[in-house]
Amino acid sequence: MLWILRFSGFFSAAVVMIILSPSIQSFPPAEAIRSSNLDGYLRSPNLLSPPDYLPQLYFRRSTIFRNADECRFSDRQIKGKTSVCDPSLVHIAITLDVEYLRGSIAAVHSILLNSLCPENVFFHFLVSETNLESLVRSTFPQLKFKVYYFDPEIVRSLISTSVRQALEQPLNYARNYLADLLETCVKRVIYLDSDLVVVDDIAKLWATNLGSRTIGAPEYCHANFTKYFTSGFWSDKRFSGTFRGRKPCYFNTGVMVIDLVKWRHAQYTKWIERWMEVQKSDRIYDLGSLPPYLLVFAGNVAPIEHRWNQHGLGGDNVRGSCRDLHPGPYSLLHWSGSGKPWLRLDSKQPCPLDFLWSPYDLYGHSRL
Ligand SMILES: *[C@@H]1O[C@H](CO)[C@@H](O)[C@H](O)[C@H]1NC(C)=O
Repeated sequence: MLWILRFSGFFSAAVVMIILSPSIQSFPPAEAIRSSNLDGYLRSPNLLSPPDYLPQLYFRRSTIFRNADECRFSDRQIKGKTSVCDPSLVHIAITLDVEYLRGSIAAVHSILLNSLCPENVFFHFLVSETNLESLVRSTFPQLKFKVYYFDPEIVRSLISTSVRQALEQPLNYARNYLADLLETCVKRVIYLDSDLVVVDDIAKLWATNLGSRTIGAPEYCHANFTKYFTSGFWSDKRFSGTFRGRKPCYFNTGVMVIDLVKWRHAQYTKWIERWMEVQKSDRIYDLGSLPPYLLVFAGNVAPIEHRWNQHGLGGDNVRGSCRDLHPGPYSLLHWSGSGKPWLRLDSKQPCPLDFLWSPYDLYGHSRL
């Protein structure tokens, strides 16, 4: 009897299935997919159908989401085909890769569920591999989104070999290129990491006043800023002189509101790349994609309330270490650090806060 229940549950759950190739994962993405015909690649699922695909990733279809009456002003646009240039849209950029896919899907789900006007949100997905567009489409049939191919070769030669493996994924650096990748009519974007959920209306974050600044993020001025750079950096005035006249504070690059117009105008991508080149020759920091942001922006960041990035919930490298929330209200929970909620839940060793992530998880078949 039990197997019949399971079987019917399987079909009633609007199961979405995509099968991903281990052979693709085992090669650097750029060798698996050449950029020239990627659009065709993404659109035709048949290209990914050899028999030995693993792991199998299943996502349930999200429930229907709909704008509240208060959002009616945009009905005209949302009924037809919405242009990415529509000024009433809220733009979110997020990466999609096999390893963090479950997190990205949960993040999108959380944004839709907690928005007053979910139909006004437009997602810009950054990918470097595999057929993930059809998976997004089947999981969120109504979603407004576009998939952008980020060529890992753009940064591969810039990534210093000294940074640790987990931070070395080229897709981590895709955020540096948003101003180039997104349509020029997109003037502002919220960049979000894949290991977080938004538990408040994202439109509030979208409305952040950046003043004259290019990026906004919660700042942590009590953190010891010195430790983000090597002693060689601090002792060399050619490098550390960049902070002269600034009061730099640490900020986390997993949640940023970015003014793309100002970014394009000042060509900040070039500045970031220049610091990455310095890192290759002089080893000025130990972390991956974060320090160039501190070098370019720290001290010139529009402060955002800390509730928009309750980070560190992944804990540190000590296995089984659980973090508590920082005091104060929270609108966004971020499992930065080495522990991810989906892995801990699967291994039956969750941290208490992981249960705030699980309601947004769409992975797997329906639970009977
Ligand atoms: C900050 O970190 C640096 C390098 O790790 C250390 O030398 C310094 O003593 C720290 N400062 C404070 C105030 O903790």
